[in-house]
Amino acid sequence: MIYTVTLNPSIDYIVHIPSLQLGDLNRMEKDIKLPGGKGINVSRVLNNLGHTTTALGFLGGFTGKFIADWLEHEAVQTDFVEIEQDTRINVKVKADVETEINAAGPAVSQEEAGKLLNQMDLLTSEDVVVLSGNKPPTLPEDFYQQMIEKITSVGAEFIIDTTGKELLSAIGSKPLLVKPNHHELADLFGTAFHSIEDIIPYGKKLISMGAKYAVISMAGDGALFFTETDAYQATVPKGKVKNSVGAGDSMIAGFIGTLVETSNPVEAFKKSVATGSATAFSDDLATKKEIESLINQVEISKID
Ligand SMILES: Nc1ncnc2c1ncn2[C@@H]1O[C@H](COP(=O)(O)OP(=O)(O)OP(=O)(O)O)[C@@H](O)[C@H]1O
Ligand SMILES: [Mg+2]
Repeated sequence: MIYTVTLNPSIDYIVHIPSLQLGDLNRMEKDIKLPGGKGINVSRVLNNLGHTTTALGFLGGFTGKFIADWLEHEAVQTDFVEIEQDTRINVKVKADVETEINAAGPAVSQEEAGKLLNQMDLLTSEDVVVLSGNKPPTLPEDFYQQMIEKITSVGAEFIIDTTGKELLSAIGSKPLLVKPNHHELADLFGTAFHSIEDIIPYGKKLISMGAKYAVISMAGDGALFFTETDAYQATVPKGKVKNSVGAGDSMIAGFIGTLVETSNPVEAFKKSVATGSATAFSDDLATKKEIESLINQVEISKID
């Protein structure tokens, strides 16, 4: 089973306003509520691709119920820990410029956190757990590390998509995949990149530090892929970007779904790029049909 973990999900409240006037009454042209959260995105795309997945994490209150109902409607399996406080709402104002207002999110009690940790004890060596997004401040500093210890001690694998110290301390525990974008990778090592050649040594470094596979996404400029022995570059399909939220999460879904199915990491990388782009080119997340229509546009070349 592929599990995803979303520690701090959200309802993304997307508000369209022709022109935002601060200090005035603004009337919405259109508003949309969507379930948000990186692990949830991974589960929804895996489900679109026909893979079984279970979404884990914390949900609470009427906002949490909105997300649970949405996932149930899409037939995404879930096993969230129900928490006392309400799941957060993030506001995305789409006006002449985009403004985002993100909530900190609910406090998770020690007991609630313990329930999620206990779920890790039920994993088997057949399972993969996708840990996505930054840890909310109310959880202990080493919460991901505690989860990873449990995951690896039963022989299950994990993928981690977070940043900074949290990512650095996870790499040594041998994740199946890490997928920083090029900005996150530069920040991780306190450097700056000016070309693909600049990035390659750092991609290799992720592997030597412990990651089995590393994808470095570069939005519209393609993506790089590193394995223990090889490095590859992919072109991205051409198209009009509608909403790139969840593009990185979609890459993870495309990768792990295909890896589990084919055991072919280069095929998995190719699918991951098509999946990321299919999400960037659609309003919500990629559908199977959209992904399949782009896959032949992704060209993979080996880097010497
Ligand atoms: N302009 C674009 N044209 C084509 N594909 C794109 C574009 N932007 C993003 N993508 C696709 O989405 C993938 C991931 O994009 P990006 O590098 O922005 O990830 P990210 O920053 O991790 O995203 P996220 O915000 O979801 O975490 C790219 O590798 C590519 O396949
Ligand atoms: Mg990302």
